[in-house]
Amino acid sequence: MRLSIPELSLVLLAGPTGSGKSTFARRHFAPTEILSSDTCRGLVADDENDQSATPDAFDVLYYIAGKRLAARRLAVVDATNVRKEDRQRLVALAREHDVLPVIIVLDVDPDTCHARNEARDNRDFGPRVPREHSRLLRRSLKSLKREGFRQITVLKDLEAIDAVHIERARLWCDRREDKGPFDIIGDIHGCFDELVTLLGELGYAVDADPSDPSAVPPPGRKTIFLGDLVDRGPKSPAVLRLAMRMVQDGHALAVPGNHDVKLLRKLRGHQVRIAHGLAETLEQLEHEPETFKEEVMTFIDSLVSHLLLDDGQLVVAHAGMKAALQGRASKRVREFALYGETTGETDGFGLPERYDWAQDYRGRATVVYGHTPTRELTWVNGTLCLDTGCVFGGHLSALRYPERTVVQVPARSAYAESLGAVRFDEAPRPSPAPRPGHGLLDLEDVTGKRVVRTRLDRTVTVHAENAAAALEVMSRFALDPRWLIYLPPTMSPSTASASGEYLEHPRESFAYFRENGVGRVMCQEKHMGSRAILVVLREDDVAVRRFGFEAPGSGAIYSRTGRAFFRDDTYTLELLRQVREALTRAELWDRLETDWVALDVEILPWSAKAQSLLTEQYAPTGASGLSTLTEAEALLSNTPAAASLRSRLAERRACVEAYLEAYRRYCWAVASPADLEIAPFHVLAGERGVYLGESHAWHMERLDRLCAAAPQLLRRTAQRTVDVTSPDQEEEAVRWWMELTARGGEGMVVKPLDGMVKGPKGWVQPALKCRGREYLRIIYGPEYTLPDQLERLRARGVGRKRSLALRETALGWEGLHRFVAQEPLFRVHECTFGVLALESEPVDPRL
Ligand code: CTP
Ligand code: MG
Repeated sequence: MRLSIPELSLVLLAGPTGSGKSTFARRHFAPTEILSSDTCRGLVADDENDQSATPDAFDVLYYIAGKRLAARRLAVVDATNVRKEDRQRLVALAREHDVLPVIIVLDVDPDTCHARNEARDNRDFGPRVPREHSRLLRRSLKSLKREGFRQITVLKDLEAIDAVHIERARLWCDRREDKGPFDIIGDIHGCFDELVTLLGELGYAVDADPSDPSAVPPPGRKTIFLGDLVDRGPKSPAVLRLAMRMVQDGHALAVPGNHDVKLLRKLRGHQVRIAHGLAETLEQLEHEPETFKEEVMTFIDSLVSHLLLDDGQLVVAHAGMKAALQGRASKRVREFALYGETTGETDGFGLPERYDWAQDYRGRATVVYGHTPTRELTWVNGTLCLDTGCVFGGHLSALRYPERTVVQVPARSAYAESLGAVRFDEAPRPSPAPRPGHGLLDLEDVTGKRVVRTRLDRTVTVHAENAAAALEVMSRFALDPRWLIYLPPTMSPSTASASGEYLEHPRESFAYFRENGVGRVMCQEKHMGSRAILVVLREDDVAVRRFGFEAPGSGAIYSRTGRAFFRDDTYTLELLRQVREALTRAELWDRLETDWVALDVEILPWSAKAQSLLTEQYAPTGASGLSTLTEAEALLSNTPAAASLRSRLAERRACVEAYLEAYRRYCWAVASPADLEIAPFHVLAGERGVYLGESHAWHMERLDRLCAAAPQLLRRTAQRTVDVTSPDQEEEAVRWWMELTARGGEGMVVKPLDGMVKGPKGWVQPALKCRGREYLRIIYGPEYTLPDQLERLRARGVGRKRSLALRETALGWEGLHRFVAQEPLFRVHECTFGVLALESEPVDPRL
């Protein structure tokens, strides 16, 4: 006998002791799927027969079963399950997880059970026990359906038990293999003419004869009807006919709406309140033959409350579907699909107040639904309501999936009056373009331990205490968080140089890449400025369209901790205006096919942001160092011992003077935006993609064009490509670095030419910094080059810093990809926030 059970269900085996439940379970289910009361008794009491441990054993069993069901895994309960109260707890558990409770009864006669138990050494009870079990079980057979079991199988004898072959059936809502593409259409409510026009605009070949309509999609496409085909509007039967025909022909899928289900109940002869446009439908159906009504009943009855499509990435349901209920089956799931969530209150119009589940939605799947008439299409956390009130004189809307473009046709007339607060007959509608799903940051999205899967095949863990530290930083943001699509990763220096008077030297950087299988690297001058991210818009209104809010000006400039770079907005606006124009002159908008772009840059001078640090910290250190030295010299007499001391003091004076010299180079007064320079070094992303994976030659080609378009503002980054397997090229690059740093440059950054690359030991550092000897004085103090100090500093470890750099890179890359893919903002922020959190991990700040 074939026994088909739902793939996701809670299966109860029931039968007297000795009826063969454990044997049956072993034969048909995987060991991890079986939860046996005996095993659980053993787990808590070291003895499977210790009856006193039964309550604890069942606690364990329920707990594990709950975990499995929550994770969408089948669970099979191997216990006698002969008592109603035992079964009831399990039915409640299945309901709690919105899975179907299934029972398989092994109705073996007690004598056989007893005979079997006699042969077992751990079942030393008499015939009374199986007899009592059997009595209890047989008595409850009739009421199993009432107890809530959705599938009941009673196997009456040993042959029947032996003959069972179990098959696992997919849930009806599971159509994950259907990847579309789809044209998803919102609530139609009898607006047949608008539906015909809409299908025509979607490229369908439509026959609009209301008595026998049909529509054939463009090759490969399929319509999805989101329910509420009927009521209120003028031509409900024609809409039903067309939808039924398209479903029958395999050209459409449909989910039921609350109006459709109410019509079905009425047609079946149930008592329903004739309201909300049902009267019109019934009146229209009067003119239809009985057979048509029969077909309508069969059709509506066949509809599944919600559908999972496209590998689970798309969910459709009339009133939406929250993440916890997707792909499950229960009354609660069906009610949610039909009615959504209500608060239990009624609004001023006497309608049930709807709870906006979409605001809290954090699921991965895109959810497209209808039910709630809205004037404007707005993506909310990856969900979109497509009911634009056609029957009230609004529009009939379709979403093309996966393209995510919207097609709308206006209603020919307002067929019904909207009762709710949303009016469709007033004022012009705002732009119908969907806004990307931008729910605002929710505390729960960023607190606690988080594990982020990134597409650099790394899973990054953000620990709770770091998340708390990041929250503290983020809570002080002046910048609108919707700009924060990326934060740059930290960068490790090369390992300490073993030779001479250098702490960092190019040779170690080159060696690192050589050892990790990278042949060619790009050396880029490291500008002595402050890191910043520029989000530049081609036009001001891109802010609304792409970033989901109105913002003055042409974008944003923020620091690596996500704060507005300039306190003074006039600086931000002026710089962005100039960069936008440079992008236009360089034709980069068109070449990148985008109307926004994110750039990774350095803003100079260093003092633009760090002015206070310099004047308050470094300069006094240097100046007081010099005056102390002068005082010390004055105290010395002319003895030979004093002469040696004097020469050591002179050495120190040279160090301090070099230090003062070092920081002065990086500072100049800034009185207006014209005093600033921007050195871009990465085109991070645009509408067409994330460019972090492109080679540095690719980046430099585009950025050179950009810099040439505004040379007074944009500083080109000096660079050279080096083959690290060629000693000659390496020596030449060392000389270049020596000159660069001798002229006062901070140093250089060495990157694999091909961008993000994997070596034999995994991902290679995307960049190593190699800082100049004099610049490092600012970091390590004036005297760090003295031999004893240098020796001590050489012991510094870079392992943690490198691990951090890779984790932050993976997060940054992931966040940009999510933004480009128009994922909801909380998914993007999970990454940017993660970078911020990792930055609070304790790592030597001088590295
Ligand atoms: N058995 C058998 N033939 C079957 C099924 C079971 O001979 N078709 C034997 C098993 O080998 C075992 C005994 O019957 O020795 C009891 O079977 P089991 O599956 O352990 O029964 P349960 O219903 O699990 O009994 P209990 O409630 O006591 O765990
Ligand atoms: Mg057993």
